[in-house]
Amino acid sequence: MRPVRLMKVFVTCRISPEGSAALARATDCKVEQWDSDEPISNKELERGVAGAHGLLCILSERIDKRLLDIAGANLKVISTMSVGVDHLALDEIKKRGIRVGYTPDVLTDATAELAVALLLTTCRRLPEAIEEVKNGGWTTWKPLWMCGYGLSGSTVGIIGLGRIGQAIARRLKPFGVQRFLYTGRQPRPQEAAEFQAEFVSVPQLAAESDFVVVSCSLTPATKGLCTKDFFQRMKKTAVFVNISRGDVVNQDDLYQALASGQIAAAGLDVTTPEPLPTNHPLLTLKNCVILPHIGSATYRTRNTMSMLAVNNLLAGLRGEPMPRELML
Ligand code: NDP
Ligand code: DGY
Repeated sequence: MRPVRLMKVFVTCRISPEGSAALARATDCKVEQWDSDEPISNKELERGVAGAHGLLCILSERIDKRLLDIAGANLKVISTMSVGVDHLALDEIKKRGIRVGYTPDVLTDATAELAVALLLTTCRRLPEAIEEVKNGGWTTWKPLWMCGYGLSGSTVGIIGLGRIGQAIARRLKPFGVQRFLYTGRQPRPQEAAEFQAEFVSVPQLAAESDFVVVSCSLTPATKGLCTKDFFQRMKKTAVFVNISRGDVVNQDDLYQALASGQIAAAGLDVTTPEPLPTNHPLLTLKNCVILPHIGSATYRTRNTMSMLAVNNLLAGLRGEPMPRELML
């Protein structure tokens, strides 16, 4: 019997026990893992990827030309435990004939749920209100105290009516939203029909929305999409929510818009950089709620993402159809 040639797999983080067990059962692979919740250093990443046939990575690791060179010619599959692929140098990856697996759909519900939670937390000023209870600021019921903005009768503008954008709209509709606007590279009449959503330009969406929700992918075209001009067009009473990627927003311009009262409030699940330094100006603002990129963070979703990432990786290495392959 010919000995089976083991394929080297490098996993850059700790994944769910079920995912790890599935990898351990792959007798055709020799698995190395950065088995820690702490981020892998560049040095360890480079050491681990060298000579690997398969790489299982996460969104905080930049898989660029340099790293691909270090990995070398063995590398056949990159499986990212994310739907976002902006951390991958896709052109370079394609040139080298490397297959890419990712995790769409399985995190859509969790991320949309978090987006709604963040929107409500921001527009109804929950962190401020909780703080007032703790610090004695709650003296009595006062007619004009701690007022925010409600969804009922509002216009919601969605930048990127993709899987997550639609799931957000689906959840917001029962709150009594009157009108949905959306923008993207082209109209999506089929998907928009469910919400009677109107396709508009970015400036129109900024000007007419009471709530702006950013749920697009980060691409060269969406990088820096929300800048000074965008915020200046927004209503003074409008709330801005971003669950996409920090780089879609110019954070200095957002800070100015929030600090000067140009817009009412912002809720961000994503920032640049991540983590946001604890002395960042945005953290000094009462009207800015920032979460540590937890959109998909439910136990079940992260386990499903881990399993999908492992199954993508193994199928790719074995030359089989991947459950979710990104077609390059
Ligand atoms: P989809 O591919 O289904 O949706 C991406 C959307 O981006 C599409 O609606 C697309 O619209 C839009 N888009 C692309 N280019 C542009 C553009 N130039 N202008 C405006 N819109 C554009 O992906 P998902 O909905 O599954 O995920 C979206 C993103 O959400 C991910 O890429 C990731 O960055 C982020 N995400 C964040 C999470 C978190 O934890 N906060 C969790 C999961 C995802 P069209 O095709 O019509 O142009
Ligand atoms: C993604 O999948 O792109 C998210 O940002 C994390 O789940």
